[in-house]
Amino acid sequence: MNNKKIDEALKEAYEGEAKAVLKLKVYAAKADTEGYPEIAKLFRVVAASEAVHGTRALMLLRESGTTEENLAAGFESEEKVARVSYERFIQEALEDGNRTAELLFTQSRDVEETHARLYKKALDSMVSGRETSYFICEVCGYVSEDVSPETCPVCGAKRERFYDFDNFCR
Ligand SMILES: [Fe+2]
Ligand SMILES: [Fe+2]
Repeated sequence: MNNKKIDEALKEAYEGEAKAVLKLKVYAAKADTEGYPEIAKLFRVVAASEAVHGTRALMLLRESGTTEENLAAGFESEEKVARVSYERFIQEALEDGNRTAELLFTQSRDVEETHARLYKKALDSMVSGRETSYFICEVCGYVSEDVSPETCPVCGAKRERFYDFDNFCR
């Protein structure tokens, strides 16, 4: 048995499926704006199905640890994405004079930092089991705890653009 080869295949399957899920969500949104709700639904259905494939491949890869380890890994990865990847993307957008990409990268970096803080906080209070409500900005992805803010601190979107994760189903 060639485990290395299989692991590479599993990784490729997981990454390919993960990309497909996002691409299909964008296709669905486009179909909605073009007035094809049934096609939009089909794209979302296939995305849900691809997510099953990707998840199965990732689980076989056994890359996850205990919840405490996963929180720590999540914290590190969010910090790295914010401080290394997005910082570089922002520089590239600045050099290119692309304001739209710069705004997207800057807001994403700021939100990634809040993800890191949320993980850190969860790590520090793992056993407390405190119930938290989360409100997510549909414009920039900012996550607010317990209340939906009047305006998004990252992108300035109004409260109506926040959805309550507990009641979220799409
Ligand atoms: Fe993140
Ligand atoms: Fe926002």
